[in-house]
Amino acid sequence: MRILLLGSGGREHALAWKIAQSPKCEKLYIAPGNAGTKEVGENINIKVNDFDDIKDFCLEKGVTMVVVGPEDPLVNGIYDFFKDDAQLKDIPVIGPSKKGAVLEGSKDFAKGFMQRHGIPTARYQTFDGEHLQEGLDFLETLEPPYVLKADGLCAGKGVLILPTLEEAKKEFKEMLGGMFGKASSRVVIEEFLDGIECSVFVLTDGNSYKILPEAKDYKRIGEGDTGLNTGGMGSVSPVPFATKDWMKKVEERIIRPTVEGLKEEGIDYKGFIFFGLINARNKGQGAGGKEQETREPKVIEYNVRMGDPETETVMLRLKSDLVDLFEGVATGTLAERKVEFDERAAVCVMLVSGGYPGSYEKGFHITGIEDVWGSTLFHAGTAFAPPSEGTEEAQLVTNGGRVLAVSSYGKDKEEALEKSFANAKLIKFQGKNFRRDIGADL
Ligand code: AMP
Ligand code: GLY
Repeated sequence: MRILLLGSGGREHALAWKIAQSPKCEKLYIAPGNAGTKEVGENINIKVNDFDDIKDFCLEKGVTMVVVGPEDPLVNGIYDFFKDDAQLKDIPVIGPSKKGAVLEGSKDFAKGFMQRHGIPTARYQTFDGEHLQEGLDFLETLEPPYVLKADGLCAGKGVLILPTLEEAKKEFKEMLGGMFGKASSRVVIEEFLDGIECSVFVLTDGNSYKILPEAKDYKRIGEGDTGLNTGGMGSVSPVPFATKDWMKKVEERIIRPTVEGLKEEGIDYKGFIFFGLINARNKGQGAGGKEQETREPKVIEYNVRMGDPETETVMLRLKSDLVDLFEGVATGTLAERKVEFDERAAVCVMLVSGGYPGSYEKGFHITGIEDVWGSTLFHAGTAFAPPSEGTEEAQLVTNGGRVLAVSSYGKDKEEALEKSFANAKLIKFQGKNFRRDIGADL
C-alpha cells in the first residue's frame, strides 16, 4: 500500500507511527505532517483542505489509500470528492462521507440521529434566532448547570456550561446573536449529565465494526480539571470503569444502533467513529421504593475521527496491524480481521507552551529529547528551524500550543505515568508546562 495520511498533530504522528510498522505499508506520505512524522514517513507540503493538490499528488505518486486524521476535510467532503472523481474513485478514503461527517459537523443532527435510533443521550431541544423565547422557556424547565452547544464546528470551543439560569439565558442570546458566527445560528440546549467521561473508538466498514481500546482524556489546562479547555493535556487507557459489562452495554445500546442507524439512513460510512461517552449518574427507585443511584453510559457527542490525545495511547495498545484493518474497511471485509489489545496500560502526558491555551510564543529550542528513555514521543506542535550560528544541524523548536506527547506503557497506569512524568521533566523548552495529575482521578 502507498498511503497518504492527512493531518499534522500528535494524533497523526501516532497514526503514522502505527501505519509505518505494518508490513503492508510500502510507502507513507503525511500531508502536511510535522517534525515527528518525518521520522516515519515523508512529509509533503499540502494542506488538508486543498483537494485539487491532494488529487494531483495521489495520481503522480500512485497513492493507493488515503487516511484522514482531522474532521475538517471530512466535513468538507473529501470522501465524496474521491468517490465522484473518475481518476480517484478506486483509491479508498478511510473516513466517512460528507453526510456521515455531519454526525460531528452538526450537534443538532447528532442529537436527532440518537433520538431516531434510541441511543441514550441527554434530553435536549434545538433553537434558532426565530425561536429565542421558546429557548429561554426551555431553559426554565432544566436544573442547573446549563449546557449550551453551538450547532456547528467551533474548533472545540462551542460548548458552554453555565452555573446559573441568568448566565445561561444571557449566553444563549449571545450565541444566537453570532458569538460563534454561523456555527451558533442554531443552539442545542441540553440537560447536564454528571459523571466521568470515556472515549470509545470504533472502526467500521459500514456493515461490521471493531472496537478499539478506550481511553480517557484530560481537557482542562489546570490540575484538578480547572481552568480553560485545551486540545487535550493527556490521556489514559484502559479506563477502569470501562469493564466488560459496561462495554457490553455500550456496544448493545450505543455502538450497534449507531452503525445500524447509519446503514438504515443510507449514510456511507467507512472509517473511525469516536463516541464521547459519560458514565452518567442516574437517580431511580430501587427495591422497596428506596432512592437508588446507578450509572449508565450515555453519549455526549460523536466525532468522525480519532481523538487527540487519545490516539497517542490507543495506538500503543492496539497490537493488530492498522493497515490490515484499514484494508478491511476499504474492501468491506472488516469482519474477517482481528483486533488484539496490548494488556498493558498506556498513558500520554502532553507538554504545552507557556501561556497555552491563551496566547503563547513559538520557536523555542527543544532539548533533552535524546535523553528520553522508555517512552514514545509523538510530536504535535514542533518544527525544524534552520541551524543557528555555529551549529550544523536544524534545530527542533516549538511550533504550537501543544508541543509533544510523552506516551508510555506500564504494567498499570501508575508505572506508565512514572515513566511519562520522568521524561516530561527531561525534555526542556522555555515556558514548558504539563499536568502532573493525569490519571489521578481514576
Ligand atoms: P463536546 O464538544 O460536545 O464534546 O462538549 C465539550 C465538553 O463539554 C464535553 O467533553 C463534556 O466535558 C462537556 N459536556 C458536553 N455536554 C455535556 C452534558 N450534557 N453534560 C455534562 N457535560 C457536558
Ligand atoms: N480528545 C477529544 C477530541 O479529540 O475531540
